[in-house]
Amino acid sequence: MPLEIDVLTLFPPMVAGPLAESIPARIQDQGLATVRVHDLRQWGLGRHRTVDDYTYGGGAGMVLRVDVVAAALGELRRPESTVILLDPAGEVFRQPVAQALAGTPHLVFLCPRYEGVDERVRALCDRELSIGDYVLTGGELAALVIVDAVIRLLPGAIDAASTAEESFSAGLLEYPQYTRPAEFDGTVVPPVLVSGHHEQVRRWRLRESLRRTLQRRPDLLEGRSLGREEARLLAEVRAEAETAVPEGRAG
Ligand code: ADE
Repeated sequence: MPLEIDVLTLFPPMVAGPLAESIPARIQDQGLATVRVHDLRQWGLGRHRTVDDYTYGGGAGMVLRVDVVAAALGELRRPESTVILLDPAGEVFRQPVAQALAGTPHLVFLCPRYEGVDERVRALCDRELSIGDYVLTGGELAALVIVDAVIRLLPGAIDAASTAEESFSAGLLEYPQYTRPAEFDGTVVPPVLVSGHHEQVRRWRLRESLRRTLQRRPDLLEGRSLGREEARLLAEVRAEAETAVPEGRAG
């Protein structure tokens, strides 16, 4: 059964365009996911198909109406659906959330514009997600980010080995990779990678993943339980980091 995705937006081409290209398009062509994009105005009120209104109490900007959203969800929601509101105040979207969503049968994304949604819309949704600590002009780009991250995890979408080894799936950043030429502008590929020693390559990659994570995202290491080999390699890269002479202070 394909993962079914419905996206509710006032700007359907903004969502449909990127999903019609490259790997997202192929995933849909393969029948692994079905994405339908709906214009929220279909459920708008009156001759002008109004979807928003002034905020009670006064203030700038328009707010998405709860009755319009309720009408749309009345048609799209099923017992097995997960309805997601895109909102900068939502839970921050991370890889484990992508993995959880990839295991569900039906996702509905609600993309607000304007100053946001009537507070009562939240009760109609199952989850609120943010893609990061910044404010976008609407939920469309956030929905695209989430749809992209979720559908590539569907079985058969991408070589399983690459999703298993990539950044974050093991809670670590990915190790450095190289391709030809073996020497460029005086910099060479680490010799272990051309040694043909699979076990040494595996250990080097794990060590460099740990080193990169320690340098760039130490928060990812906090609260992560390490295997015995990981703990030993992490101790090594920590020791190396402590003894390394900072650049510019040599001599
Ligand atoms: N809408 C506006 N900004 C957003 C964000 N950072 N994440 C999700 N939805 C948003």
